[in-house]
Amino acid sequence: MRRRTVLTAAGAAVAMLALRGAASAQETMKIGLILPMTGSFASTGRQIEAAAKLYMQQSGDTVAGKKIQLIVKDDTGVADVTKRLAQELIVNDKVGVIAGFGLTPLALAPAPLATQAKVPAVVMAAATATITEASPYIVRTSFTLPQATVPMADWASQNGIKKVVTLVSDYGPGIDAEKAFSGAFGAKGGQVESLRVPLANPDFSPFLQKVADAKPDALFVFVPSGVGAQFVERGLDKSGIKLIGPGDVTDDDILNGMGDVALGAITTQHYSAAHDSPENKAFVEAFKKANNGMRPNFMAVGGYDGMHLIYEGLKKTNGAGGEALINAMKGMSWMSPRGPVSIDPQTRDIIQNIYVRKVERVNGELYNVEFATIANVKDPVKAAKSN
Ligand code: PHB
Repeated sequence: MRRRTVLTAAGAAVAMLALRGAASAQETMKIGLILPMTGSFASTGRQIEAAAKLYMQQSGDTVAGKKIQLIVKDDTGVADVTKRLAQELIVNDKVGVIAGFGLTPLALAPAPLATQAKVPAVVMAAATATITEASPYIVRTSFTLPQATVPMADWASQNGIKKVVTLVSDYGPGIDAEKAFSGAFGAKGGQVESLRVPLANPDFSPFLQKVADAKPDALFVFVPSGVGAQFVERGLDKSGIKLIGPGDVTDDDILNGMGDVALGAITTQHYSAAHDSPENKAFVEAFKKANNGMRPNFMAVGGYDGMHLIYEGLKKTNGAGGEALINAMKGMSWMSPRGPVSIDPQTRDIIQNIYVRKVERVNGELYNVEFATIANVKDPVKAAKSN
């Protein structure tokens, strides 16, 4: 009799422990952050990881009763690796959200997994317009190249620029930028000649020679974040031609190291570390403080806002993930360090201001200084489809 009581008590203790284990698993919301932490695009990984961690440090690690756990994985910038890591995170780690995605091919590779598993995928970096169409579970907090580029074409045609050579990295976002620019600038009577450079280890010199020979009024450039310094070093100063483009080429992570050759470049984009708002001043100061003085770039703000979207979505669903979470994210609006933003409920892309900026020296450092704002810009590629 006595022995039986002891056994029953032991059994109950085991059962309780098992239950507690299950409950604590449910009380954790894991976020798998997949980024290029090594390789040519490591600056994107470093910026986004730092921003996501800053957001958690400022906002706490509990949302709607769930403990938030960030799992950072390095895909080295290789799409097959991104896909394998996404699979492992979803199946083994049971993450409720996958996020990050430093380049377009890295965002596209895991899209079918997000759909199958009904796991929201927050694209914090990649910027080819079509990405959000690859899965109804994808939502984006970065930007699209056409969104940033059409305002550049408008500015160029309004400012006496008649002939432009476009030079873009030969893959999704570069082709998006080229098409958006030549379409919008051509429609206003501008003349465009287009060149494409390989994404991997580009040698810019022969292309810059072609640009010099064409004698355009401006050179429009898209290279992904982190590559702009290489481009500028390889002879832009010798060409003496005005540099314009979406803001990736004068990205805040590398801009200050480019030197005077970058001065005067006109770009259009959604974020500058010099953006003049109380939210951005606080963000830049906290980011630098937490990261040995590193200046946040537009990738960082995509990561920071991506975390905000996950946190606010979870608050709305009371901690539920899956379809409820992606639905909760649609239509959400907030004040970002970049300015006011919202998630387009139809496309799951971000609607945001695009700023026209000029590289200037401010207190001894190079910055993209904003001088005009185009408010609430939607991705024009999807806007045109829905008309
Ligand atoms: C992309 O691959 O989608 C991408 C990467 C870096 C950028 C912009 C777009 O700066």
